[in-house]
Amino acid sequence: MNERRLKFTLNGAPVCVDISTDTLLVDLLRDKLGFTGTKVGCREGQCGACTVLMNGKAVNSCLVLALSVEGSKITTIEGLEDNGEIHPLQKTFIEKGAVQCGFCTPGMILSAKALLDGESDPSEEQVKVALSGNLCRCTGYSKIIEAVQDAARQMKIEGGKEDASKIGR
Ligand code: FES
Ligand code: FES
Repeated sequence: MNERRLKFTLNGAPVCVDISTDTLLVDLLRDKLGFTGTKVGCREGQCGACTVLMNGKAVNSCLVLALSVEGSKITTIEGLEDNGEIHPLQKTFIEKGAVQCGFCTPGMILSAKALLDGESDPSEEQVKVALSGNLCRCTGYSKIIEAVQDAARQMKIEGGKEDASKIGR
């Protein structure tokens, strides 16, 4: 088997691993590194269940050769926790009932995060476009869209509070 050494950053921590040259990113994350929050659905780039962030951009990890992430920053759903706190998107998905079976949820949330990192006040249309590659069989999407817009509002409020506390210092 043809093996190569791969180095990248996963959820803020350095990873150095020997893998076969044909390993897909989704399989590296789940099977070799144990990050099973990333789900596998179609393996064809159609369902978005395997979405992770690569340098901040949402990608289907079933279509990415693991060796191509050399030197990159990869974020999975496990990486959204911050000091024991779940991400605002995770909170609003729970609050709005945007999670049913939950299979699509990690991918949905990561696609939504990529959107909110670049757009603090997205329109419904922008949310729909950002999530267009993520399929959900359960929720009918409206609660998911509400959850993303609600998270954007909460993040704006939190960001405003932080700015105010910096000015007050
Ligand atoms: S498993 Fe990757 S897009 Fe469906
Ligand atoms: S919550 Fe079941 S697929 Fe989306």
